[in-house]
Amino acid sequence: MGSTVALLNQKGGVGKTTVTLGLASAAAARGDRVLVVDLDPQASATWVLGVDPALVEVSSADVMARADIADAILESAWSESVHLVPGSAHLQSRESGSPARLRRALDRVAPSYRAVLLDCPPSLGNLTTSALAAADHAVIVVEPSSLGLRGIGAVADLIDDVWDSHNAELELSGVIVNRVPAVSGEAERRYDELTRIVGKKAIWQPVIPQRVVVNQAIGDRRPIHSYGSRAADVIVAFDALWAKVRRTIR
Ligand SMILES: Nc1ncnc2c1ncn2[C@@H]1O[C@H](COP(=O)(O)OP(=O)(O)OP(=O)(O)O)[C@@H](O)[C@H]1O
Ligand SMILES: [Mg+2]
Repeated sequence: MGSTVALLNQKGGVGKTTVTLGLASAAAARGDRVLVVDLDPQASATWVLGVDPALVEVSSADVMARADIADAILESAWSESVHLVPGSAHLQSRESGSPARLRRALDRVAPSYRAVLLDCPPSLGNLTTSALAAADHAVIVVEPSSLGLRGIGAVADLIDDVWDSHNAELELSGVIVNRVPAVSGEAERRYDELTRIVGKKAIWQPVIPQRVVVNQAIGDRRPIHSYGSRAADVIVAFDALWAKVRRTIR
């Protein structure tokens, strides 16, 4: 119980937040308690989980600046089993600070959850370094496009660096492929390229399809599982990926 999983990529808009929240939605559907930690100054996960970042009193930035994490944890609007350490614009100024502090804070609360999910910002700066220093598992989220694959080597290098200097427990546990279009030769070629870069076994199955309803769920600030048959294939994908997280962290 209580492993911490960082979802990351320096590339923006690939679906780090969508995947973090899709996993949280799957966890809630199964009755598993999860803690989502929003480490992005844009605080999108916080907003989608029903909390206005502008009204947050104690954010993940404060936790990194030594506030008590117990004061930061909120219940999300989605479910009583999805809790949140909200993000805030103050994270911007936390680009420097001790990477060990977040780890110490999360170590205290992680045992109360099946998993702690860290939604990282689109950069490989101090916030993502802190996330990796605090995590047991790193999962890279990618899109099967040429730009989506650029820079994946730099992400793997950062994971190695953090493993070396801050956290020998850290494992690159896999790659989640998001936004896979129904029919696209380009996406298929990029998927093959990804397989060559990271190896077939590193890619978690299934991939997440590109669907309008995913975008809508984010806009409506609702869990994807509340869309029923309209989101059936996406729900199946997130359920399977959450099961994979559970097996990985066991
Ligand atoms: N599988 C999908 N199908 C359709 N739209 C998607 C899918 N995944 C993500 N999106 C949409 O793509 C946009 C970017 O997704 P998201 O915010 O999750 O990416 P991100 O990597 O967290 O971005 P950032 O780097 O800014 O934090 C959102 O509008 C989201 O709704
Ligand atoms: Mg995001």
